[in-house]
Amino acid sequence: MEKTQREEKWNEEKQVEVDIWKYIFGFIETIVVRCAIELGIAEAIESHGNPITLSELSSTLGCAPSPLYRIMRFLMHQGIFKGKLNSQGSPGYAQTPLSHRLMKHGEHSMAALILLESSPMLLTPWLSLSACVLDNDTSSFEVAHGEDIWSYSTTNPAHGQLINEAMACDAKVLVLPMIHGCPEVFDGLSSLVDVGGGNGTTLKVLIKAFPWLQGINFDQPHVVSVATVINGVENVGGDMFESVPKADAALLKAVLENKGKVIIVDAVIEEAEIDKLTDVRLALDMAMMTHTSKGKERTLKEWGFVLGEAGFSRYTLKTIHAVQSVIEAFHNLYI
Ligand SMILES: C[S@@+](CC[C@H](N)C(=O)[O-])C[C@H]1O[C@@H](n2cnc3c(N)ncnc32)[C@H](O)[C@@H]1O
Repeated sequence: MEKTQREEKWNEEKQVEVDIWKYIFGFIETIVVRCAIELGIAEAIESHGNPITLSELSSTLGCAPSPLYRIMRFLMHQGIFKGKLNSQGSPGYAQTPLSHRLMKHGEHSMAALILLESSPMLLTPWLSLSACVLDNDTSSFEVAHGEDIWSYSTTNPAHGQLINEAMACDAKVLVLPMIHGCPEVFDGLSSLVDVGGGNGTTLKVLIKAFPWLQGINFDQPHVVSVATVINGVENVGGDMFESVPKADAALLKAVLENKGKVIIVDAVIEEAEIDKLTDVRLALDMAMMTHTSKGKERTLKEWGFVLGEAGFSRYTLKTIHAVQSVIEAFHNLYI
């Protein structure tokens, strides 16, 4: 082997020695962030006012400084919190845009979604992923819990609530850009049914922006029975595979269906390239594989959509050339 080849091989091996640890301890980032949410670290810093010293933070949280110091060191290394001197010149911890997302009641909070994804209910199925690849018919979730995720949440209301809160986080973050990016989607509508609308957060945000809309939040009976009561929104329980309440338009966020006008807020909106999934979508595809039996993330090409087609804006599909794909995809997703 030539000297340059040997050097290349040597450098490659050195890099592998670093990279492999990413896979050995890959789960730690999520678990430590979960710990930060459970302890309420972001809330404590926020209510104290930036920055907060270690001893102030440990006495606010009621924990010993030493383990807290190590947790904070890790989280600062990840860029979740940052170090900052306080007015007396002592080192303290301060919030970042990322740590604001960990506050349970923050405007753009993602705390419930992190708590859901790192809960034993959703973590356990990941350990059956290889079994699910071998037995394509049963999802890892069913292997772990003996039933699918929606039936499981019927009999475990606490988990059902966690799912609803987590989906509501996503709704708050996603619906606002939709309202600002393409308000014309809602032109001419007087009623809108949100199919699989969860606890009604999506409609709550939409009705605030378009107060003339009459909203119907349609979901499984046990979900709507605990959904928020919102002015201008009727909660209706049922099974979307049997029938869906009539309205001028149907909205499907993280669910797919077909009506006269279909507004899809789903995998199709974020892909930059027609035949590739983004990093987030690739991770979500693994989650769909683990948590559902038929769910999958699809590239634009797989959806059969053509970008730039007349009437198909970033968020809307008005002329439904791809109705067939939508129906097919919908059935693949949940049946
Ligand atoms: C991934 S969540 C999406 C919730 C909401 N659209 C959002 O994005 O925040 C899917 C929703 O579909 C509902 N769902 C599942 N199967 C259903 C069915 N057969 N009929 C009605 N709703 C159903 C679930 O209860 C859940 O609220």
